[in-house]
Amino acid sequence: MSAPNKSYDPVEVEALKPEEIGRARDEALDAIAAAEDLDALREAKAAHAGNASPLALANREIGALPPQARAEAGKRVGQARGEVGRALAARQEELEAERDERMLVEEAVDVTLPYDRLPAGARHPITTLSERLEDVFVAMGYEVAEGPEAEAEWFNFDALNMLPDHPARTESDTFYVEGAAGGPSGTVLRTHTSPVQIRSMLDREPPIYVICPGRTYRTDEPDATHAPAFHQIECLAVDEGITMADLKGTLDHMVQALFGGEGMRTRLRPDYFPFTEPSAEMDMVCYVCRGESVGNPDRPCRTCSSEGWIELGGCGVVNPRVLVACGIDPDRYSGFAFGFGIERMLMFRNNVRDFRDMTEGDVRFTQPFGMEV
Ligand code: PHE
Repeated sequence: MSAPNKSYDPVEVEALKPEEIGRARDEALDAIAAAEDLDALREAKAAHAGNASPLALANREIGALPPQARAEAGKRVGQARGEVGRALAARQEELEAERDERMLVEEAVDVTLPYDRLPAGARHPITTLSERLEDVFVAMGYEVAEGPEAEAEWFNFDALNMLPDHPARTESDTFYVEGAAGGPSGTVLRTHTSPVQIRSMLDREPPIYVICPGRTYRTDEPDATHAPAFHQIECLAVDEGITMADLKGTLDHMVQALFGGEGMRTRLRPDYFPFTEPSAEMDMVCYVCRGESVGNPDRPCRTCSSEGWIELGGCGVVNPRVLVACGIDPDRYSGFAFGFGIERMLMFRNNVRDFRDMTEGDVRFTQPFGMEV
């Protein structure tokens, strides 16, 4: 910038000549018009309207003019800067609108297009139902216990007071992995979860409260109600003074927790198991009609065939012989146990019509159960 001009008059400052101002303005307008995008416009703005642009520099020269020339030069520069400013604003608006429009097109999501993501899997309802059952017992203070699926015959049968000639031990009922029925103790695929009772009693000191879910095997032909591999859940409580009443209360609580609402209860019918004495078959009241369909032809119930009760599984007071086999003093301690099939419960609870649906692994079966059963 030139020093204020006091000594001579008039003075001609090169940068303020009308042609110079006009050229600077035209260059600015050309650059603005030529800016293809907002980045280019930002550069044009810095070059032609920024602090170091020819018009800004010219503006600073005004002070170097003789006073009588300043107003006119000021007006000329001001008009040129005004024009450039308006052109900038207009182009900015244009380019922003173009950008917005482009973004709308480029970033649009066509929700009608087919997607190619891998479909999400779903947990098997047998797993979710087992966990749900476990939760009911864990809430009562039980531990979850597990045992091997290939089990020593001794755990699966002998320790449970199932003598060598028990019919369940034959090869027409039990898969033998090692050894053979009637031979020296071999290895079987466990036929029930009851061997986990034995393992739990050998591992722990009373009081013992365990719940044992797991896969079990029997030589059944697959059909609508059977499969050679299925799941059971076993419950065992061993403590001082345990009676059948504790068993009954626990069963009632379980069916209330699982099926909810008023009137859910269980009943026991005499039965026989070598490992419990007395033994019983346990039924729960039908969770649909709650027993009201019995003798009531106006209100038939498909779930329980109007019988009012649904069979669950076996139970009883732990046979003292079993306690002795596990080193527990039967004069001090007593226990109850029960076990039932999880597939069976899923079938009546969720209207599964064919056992095979639960074993074939077709995700179309599993998916509708989602994360919860
Ligand atoms: N283990 C028996 C079965 O598989 C069920 C049962 C368990 C019965 C515990 C009584 C006590 O049929």
